[in-house]
Amino acid sequence: MGVTVIVGAQWGDEGKGKITHLLSPKFDAVVRYQGGSNAGHTVKTRGSTYKFHLLPSGILHEGKKCILAAGVVIDPTTLAREITELTESGYFKGELIISSDAHIVAPYHKLLDEMEEKRLGKSAIGTTGHGIGPAYSDKYLRIGIKAGDLLDHDILRRKVEYAVETKNSLLTALYSHEPLDAGEQFEMMVESGKHIVPFIKNTIPIIRDLLANGSELLLEGAQGTLLDIDYGTYPFVTSSHPVTAGACLGTGISPLKLNRVIAVSKAYATRVGNGSFPTEQRNDLGDRMREAGREYGTTTGRKRRCGWLDLVLLKYAILINGATDIALTKIDVLNEFDSINVCVGYMYKGERIDEVDLDDSILSKCKPIYEEFPGWKEEIGYMRSPDELPEKLMSFIGFVEGKLGIPASILSVGPDHDQTIFRNGI
Ligand code: IMP
Repeated sequence: MGVTVIVGAQWGDEGKGKITHLLSPKFDAVVRYQGGSNAGHTVKTRGSTYKFHLLPSGILHEGKKCILAAGVVIDPTTLAREITELTESGYFKGELIISSDAHIVAPYHKLLDEMEEKRLGKSAIGTTGHGIGPAYSDKYLRIGIKAGDLLDHDILRRKVEYAVETKNSLLTALYSHEPLDAGEQFEMMVESGKHIVPFIKNTIPIIRDLLANGSELLLEGAQGTLLDIDYGTYPFVTSSHPVTAGACLGTGISPLKLNRVIAVSKAYATRVGNGSFPTEQRNDLGDRMREAGREYGTTTGRKRRCGWLDLVLLKYAILINGATDIALTKIDVLNEFDSINVCVGYMYKGERIDEVDLDDSILSKCKPIYEEFPGWKEEIGYMRSPDELPEKLMSFIGFVEGKLGIPASILSVGPDHDQTIFRNGI
């Protein structure tokens, strides 16, 4: 399978963790390419549930190389906790490698995230509060702290002092917060950093050698296309590039090396945080989806907003990502629905449109046009082959494939590892 990318095709929480975990035995290395502890993967296997924010889900596999690449932002406290928890339960089985070029989420980033969301009030983004925006901002302002800086305390101290000086002017003037003590911030970073220091390496030669010896690489994205800073529903987005191009940027792998891009989408849609969601069901249907799909955030515990599958947005995601396959997840959540709606276009300013500008000011004015499918009204969680799936479900899947122009090669019919159907040679 060469180099395969797993990318979220919606607003995150599509079930990428399960797909990555399932596919990782076929790969020599799993590389996470962007995002930070704002992400949350839940992996269910053989009756056990694992929740990760930073560790790639491949870490559960013996000896698997699991790389946190340069495009990731790392909160050492969260990562250290995940390493400790998994080690104690005996499941820290992979080989963790952290890029020295990955940026660090410092305690002051989390504080600034919280302060800015408070200041925005009703216009808040609804961030996870994990300091992601401020950490990426510092990277682009060229005042960020890299993982490699944790290896040299003189450099680290100098960089923290400089960053804290600029943060303090913001904290005191804009947020009326007391100034931070640079020495304390430095000590906190040394303390949390020491748990991850043994894993920090230059990943460029490691990835180069893996590619040179023909290893199979799985590049794992966090969040989803519609949360991409450039290609998402701006400004209600995250601060990184979940899209396929972000996999190349975040890992240093040339786009010419990519062989397969699997876009992961639920059979319906969810969104956490604020921003437009044209197919949202703020009614009993949405509540039923939330309960059946256990749609509560892994990272924040927030209720996820739920609605119908939106093929206008999904088609856009397929285009932006150059996706070769779809993994359709949580299909079983719709088992009990009498009918299933799929958005195939919008009414905008009195006219039907089939493509849309994702800017929130436009998307918020779009009214979905639905195609309705009869529900299959059958338990599908025990089915293991496409031939067993109800005809009504297969015609729904066929319709989605026809609209997207790519095959649904992975069908997830339940949360557990085994509840997955593979097609098209995956
Ligand atoms: P941030 O990434 O914490 O800055 O949050 C920005 C937006 O992205 C908010 O709407 C969050 O709810 C959303 N977001 C960030 N990470 C995830 C995720 O892993 N799943 C779903 N939404 C996310």
